[in-house]
Amino acid sequence: MFSIFKIKPKFPADYFPITTDIHSHILPGIDDGSPDLETSIFLIKGLMELGIKKSIATPHIISDLYRNTPSTIANSLFSLKNELKNQGIEFEISAAAEYMMDTYFFELLKSGEPLLTINDNLILTEFSYVSPPDEIEKMSFEIITAGYKPILAHPERYGFFNRNLAMYNKLSELGFLLQVNLLSLAGFYGKDCKKAAQYILDNNLAAFTATDLHHERHLAMLNQKKSRAEFHKYLSHRKWNVFFR
Ligand SMILES: [Fe+2]
Repeated sequence: MFSIFKIKPKFPADYFPITTDIHSHILPGIDDGSPDLETSIFLIKGLMELGIKKSIATPHIISDLYRNTPSTIANSLFSLKNELKNQGIEFEISAAAEYMMDTYFFELLKSGEPLLTINDNLILTEFSYVSPPDEIEKMSFEIITAGYKPILAHPERYGFFNRNLAMYNKLSELGFLLQVNLLSLAGFYGKDCKKAAQYILDNNLAAFTATDLHHERHLAMLNQKKSRAEFHKYLSHRKWNVFFR
């Protein structure tokens, strides 16, 4: 038999593009992610099966929904670490936050109170999905002059940018490090979002990818063979999460 007739797998079955996850909602009971310790442990076991070795959990801080503080986040992290230890699960976990760029966030920034960083001066930020932000230039200027580098979570998920893909180039030029959700590539949030994610990747505008894991359905989608094929197609030839390899 000639070798050209051999069926070779198109990618390794266990391929997953990251080993450190910089965006997830796996801390118990403080936002719209894991509701309790049991779920957090379940999600962590799922992440470990995907090949993730370290997570920086990023609970929401949104003024009118989840007013988390460094202490609510530290307490939740503490209880989760304790449970991991009790169950003998070895998994590296720390915490930062996902800051909604609302009025409260800019007040916090002005107050000089240290923000929760992913690493050094990197902070994870998000826009509202409801309406396009005005004064994006002012926002990035204020964050950068306060000494932080903003990572923009899932830029592809803001529907109002999807009608004008050049906005992603602009966001990058303004200093936002773009973080694409793996779930977007997998098609979890729909076709437009997937297309926008592909545009960002094809134009080398993304600095990070992450799971943004909230619940079991996310985990199931990340684990699908079809999803992994998409990850391999778009990510295997690129360097990801350069800060955390
Ligand atoms: Fe998130």
